[in-house]
Amino acid sequence: MSKDTLTITDNRTGKTYEIPIEHETIRAIDLRQIKVHEDDFGLMSYDPAFLNTASCRSEITFIDGDAGILLYRGYPIEQLAEQSSFLEVAYLLIYGELPSADQLAYWENRVMRHTYIHESLAELMKDFRYDSHPMGMLISSIAAMSTFHAEAKNFDDPDVRQKQIWRILGKLPTVAAFAYRRRIGRPFNYPDSTLGYSGNFLYMLDYMNEHDYEVNSTLAHALDVLFILHADHEQNCSTATMRAIGSSRVDPYSAMAGAAAALYGPLHGGANEAVLRMLNEIGDISAVPDYIKRVKNREVRLMGFGHRVYKNFDPRASIIKKVAYEVFDVTGKNPLIDIALELERIALDDEFFVSRKLYPNVDFYSGIIYQAMGFPIDMFPVLFAIPRATGWLAQWVEMIDDPEQRIARPRQVYLGHDKRDYVPVEER
Ligand code: CMC
Repeated sequence: MSKDTLTITDNRTGKTYEIPIEHETIRAIDLRQIKVHEDDFGLMSYDPAFLNTASCRSEITFIDGDAGILLYRGYPIEQLAEQSSFLEVAYLLIYGELPSADQLAYWENRVMRHTYIHESLAELMKDFRYDSHPMGMLISSIAAMSTFHAEAKNFDDPDVRQKQIWRILGKLPTVAAFAYRRRIGRPFNYPDSTLGYSGNFLYMLDYMNEHDYEVNSTLAHALDVLFILHADHEQNCSTATMRAIGSSRVDPYSAMAGAAAALYGPLHGGANEAVLRMLNEIGDISAVPDYIKRVKNREVRLMGFGHRVYKNFDPRASIIKKVAYEVFDVTGKNPLIDIALELERIALDDEFFVSRKLYPNVDFYSGIIYQAMGFPIDMFPVLFAIPRATGWLAQWVEMIDDPEQRIARPRQVYLGHDKRDYVPVEER
């Protein structure tokens, strides 16, 4: 007779334990009863980098890495990218359901009414050095926002919490655009809330007092789709960071500054930047086979390839490839796409990559689009952070409201010295 339990025999003692299985998972804390001596700490599980440890139960995003499936609140990413808008997806992720027409109009209005940042924050951003990395500016500015909105720490009050959500989603594109304008030495361009989320962002980046300035609707739409694709990806490094920092019950700006810092790394949201630098280094299709050789010799990694979860294909990469050509119709083709396609063609046919299940991920093509749109390479991770703030917020809200969650505090397997006595410096 089948039973939803796991029977474990401890061969050190011969004792047997029966542990419940729920949702294909056992609770690690159930292992603690397994002891040799009564005063032992009990058995732990060791899982560096959390390869097989669920830290939460979530209802937000589902990924089937083998089948290449990504669902936000049950809706396939392909349908959302095709039919929805970024702000609608943001609502869906945070509140769990698609909004009614009235709810959507109110939500869009509220977010777009929170696009202006405190003028002191704008002043503060002017003090960054002219060549500061925009991601460093973004991370610091998000942290600084906690000082301007001090009531945010009272997030148990639903009105306070709601206000921070509007504020963060509204202000982040402004901070990102100001970081960009600071980086290229242009005056800050204040938001125009009538232009929509992505349109306003492009406007803040580009507008230079032209009388005939118009946001390019194809580029605004492409950016909106890219934002949808990047909005959430369950328990990735930055989201896990948002939850971990948030579990200390700090305000959401401080937690998000940490999440954005985690995103900055080249193995995570910084990968799109690394892909572009790699494609520039390769320089020409003829140099692709040599580069692949270097990857196989483990001298370099093929940036934009591989994923902890996707072991078949990344559905976001397939959508992005399509968006690339829509953008090229406006901007002209980015020649790096040919190098990328050749890298993909050779890699997908090569035993090294096939046997390790390494496929192009979301970042393999996104950077090529961003470059064609005129973004400097160091803005790429910022373009990832703006939409991912939605996922961070959705996951933060879920964590705050989950009665099972407590402060995140992993255990360790201590392998250091036993107790020993201090030796004064002159005797060492
Ligand atoms: N190029 C060459 N070899 C690779 C790559 C790569 N991009 N990715 C993994 N491998 C190899 C790795 O050397 C290892 O081989 P072996 O078992 O022989 O030692 C095997 O594949 C498994 O790799 P891993 O490092 O154990 O895999 P992981 O799940 O820890 O890492 C990853 C996932 C995304 C960090 C990694 O694939 C990588 O570094 N990719 C390049 C960076 C990148 O594109 N990151 C963006 C991820 S998608 C956007 C996001 O969510 O942030």
